[in-house]
Amino acid sequence: MPNTVAFNASLPEIGESERWFKRSMGLIPCNTQTLAKGYTQYVEGVAPKYLYRGKGARVFDVDENEYLDYNMGIGPISLGYAYPAVDEAIKDQLQRGITFSLVHPLEVEVAELIQEFIPNAESVRYSKTGAEATSAAIRIARAFTGRDRILACGYHGWHDWYAATLARNAGIPQEVAQLTQTFNYNDYAAFKALMNYDVAAVILEPVTFDEPDDGFLYKVQDLCHHYGTLLIFDEMWTGFRMAEGGAQEYFGVLADLATFSKAIANGMPLSVITGRHDVMQVLEDEVFFFNTFGGEALSLAAAKATLTEYQNNDVIGHIWELGNRLRTGLQNIIKNNKADFLRVKGYPYRLLIDIQPIEFDPLIIKSYIQQELIRRGILWSGTFTLSYSHTEADIDYTLRVLDEVVFLTVDAVKQGDITIKLAGKPIQPSLRPISNFARREH
Ligand SMILES: Cc1ncc(COP(=O)(O)O)c(C=O)c1O
Repeated sequence: MPNTVAFNASLPEIGESERWFKRSMGLIPCNTQTLAKGYTQYVEGVAPKYLYRGKGARVFDVDENEYLDYNMGIGPISLGYAYPAVDEAIKDQLQRGITFSLVHPLEVEVAELIQEFIPNAESVRYSKTGAEATSAAIRIARAFTGRDRILACGYHGWHDWYAATLARNAGIPQEVAQLTQTFNYNDYAAFKALMNYDVAAVILEPVTFDEPDDGFLYKVQDLCHHYGTLLIFDEMWTGFRMAEGGAQEYFGVLADLATFSKAIANGMPLSVITGRHDVMQVLEDEVFFFNTFGGEALSLAAAKATLTEYQNNDVIGHIWELGNRLRTGLQNIIKNNKADFLRVKGYPYRLLIDIQPIEFDPLIIKSYIQQELIRRGILWSGTFTLSYSHTEADIDYTLRVLDEVVFLTVDAVKQGDITIKLAGKPIQPSLRPISNFARREH
């Protein structure tokens, strides 16, 4: 019998997952299209590898084990899997066509809707992936300012200008790499030291898990204004989760350009660049940014339906309420179990269990926590990303599970046998940073 979302005695059977995995070996490099979904981020031999259906906040692996999901497609699932209002809109559009030979009215309708949500959306353009949106914003900023240097803080996708700063950076010309430098979040002094009149743009995730301290975002904005540098907010995670108007609304900081994807279309591939009209004007006749699928109608129909759901329901309020409940509950569990090596970080819409190094590698501890959550029907990979479909009952169940799992983890650490208790290969380091963004010597 497949496992369900329950206190299962045994780990799930994952034979079918393993069979698919074998078929992909040598055929699909890395076995995944994005690292966060790949086998290296899960306890190998324990965690499922392939999911094939979902409903609400639940997903089912190919062995039919059921899980309460806290990854939500790595962000895109904002309302829920197979969410009726969005699915109906997609089906409805599907009957009339997917991609057309001229532009589609949905491009205008969705842009107008985005304008109602996003504070800086004087102009709007679309693309398909987050990386395309951030790269377009960078090119726009370079064209507008006539400068080349970029300062970055966060994760911004696989394109040359940014991936040059990652440890895995083969295939990127040195000339391109030299133009991008990174700084750590909240390290205003380091940021200031990198700034000068050659910087075209500062791109940052307005927050990841640390809160901005001491007016950090305002100071960054001020210095950008001082140097005539454009400020770009990469709102892939903050957009349509932190607030209806994203981090710009939440912090009251207007960015010159902002980029969105993930949550905007509840799983359909759409990314968006919003920005100042005068800046986005370079797209009229200077900057080359065109792609075949930017106006693809199914995703735009999904975005329209998603944003309409946000307008008709308190999606953000629901997500924050549940997130606060989870955060408070988990903090109490950590305190009661004296698990001082664990900390809850982040905002309620996306909480992180931060694991401090003790006598065990944090990845071993994370692996054990993940294993025991999976046993109890919870799919977790470090963070709790919430959707409109998560319920109070889901959070309460998760807290009951966490109570047991944190207790077991503390015990395993104390007994020194946490490695033995791992039923599979531990999680490997992620090549994609979530903190300590300043990685290169400059
Ligand atoms: C903040 C941020 N920016 C950019 C990207 C890149 O988006 P994509 O993977 O769709 O290219 C991501 C992806 O996770 C992201 O989290």
